[in-house]
Amino acid sequence: MIDKIKALLGEVDEWKAANADELETLRIRYLSKKGEVGQLMNDFRNVASEQKREVGQYLNQLKEKAQQRINTLRDEFAGTENNTDDYDLTRTAYPVHLGTRHPISIVKKEICDIFGRMGFSIAEGPEIEDDWHVFSSLNFADDHPARDMQDTFFIRHDPEIILRTHTSSVQTRVMEKQQPPIRIICPGRVYRNEAISYRAHCFFHQVEALYVDEDVSFADLKQALLFFAKEMFGADTKIRLRPSYFPFTEPSAEMDISCNLCGGKGCPFCKHTGWVEILGCGMVHPNVLDNCGISSRLYSGYALGMGIERITNLKYQVTDLRLFSENDVRFLTQFESAD
Ligand code: DAH
Repeated sequence: MIDKIKALLGEVDEWKAANADELETLRIRYLSKKGEVGQLMNDFRNVASEQKREVGQYLNQLKEKAQQRINTLRDEFAGTENNTDDYDLTRTAYPVHLGTRHPISIVKKEICDIFGRMGFSIAEGPEIEDDWHVFSSLNFADDHPARDMQDTFFIRHDPEIILRTHTSSVQTRVMEKQQPPIRIICPGRVYRNEAISYRAHCFFHQVEALYVDEDVSFADLKQALLFFAKEMFGADTKIRLRPSYFPFTEPSAEMDISCNLCGGKGCPFCKHTGWVEILGCGMVHPNVLDNCGISSRLYSGYALGMGIERITNLKYQVTDLRLFSENDVRFLTQFESAD
């Protein structure tokens, strides 16, 4: 019996199979219960007990080697068979379809680039915020309606943890850590407790800009705004400032640009006024500077904030805000960016 096992051991490496059928025949011939190796296993019962040890070792060796050989041959097939199966020769040869940038990302980048050219650098802050950074430090009175649960998403009440309602909170984050000169632009997502409709959403995006230094004046703000408007909407764009109110700026203003759809002549989009509102701005309130550890006697600054969706609507005439968060590729692929 030992001789037979040794002979078979010598042959295993020679086993060949040209396809899966031949391999199966090979497997049945040797490894099935009635196959040659299988028979030997059966016969092992009758081996004299003093030889069992030696024969058993050879037999195990054979069994293992045979199984390995079959596996090796099977792997070779698996390789070649998969290769041919994976090719779909009926497919067209178009390149893989690349996605497009989200319109909000395109416009956000454009806004940041324009301010970047004026020397602003990007700053970021958390979306989950506390009352101090979103409201108190920014001079909101205790009973200001924006603090109401109707407008703000609360995560916890005591101490108050909320979702930021505007990116102005990043102003405080930066001023607390850094002394002037400060020239930052803060893009990010904000949250408000609004019913979702074509013109309002419970989350949207803003960009905040802040410039604090010695002798910063309203004229500096106006100049930056005009530059931004012309870069963003074209050299013919005009701006106008209307007095407004924000707790964190004094004086405060809202900026309109000449309607870029009708060129200022009047159309349904600008409600026939020739102007559309795009942002809020003003001179940083002295209380805000002092709250953040910056002396309002030594320094002054301007701030502005705008909604990215609003700018995108103006640029691309998107009339339903919900489209921005629905991820419908038929909508998204209409926007192309240079990079
Ligand atoms: N935070 C304001 C808002 O969410 C926008 C804003 C207005 C930001 C005036 C400013 C500013 O920095 O000066 O409506």
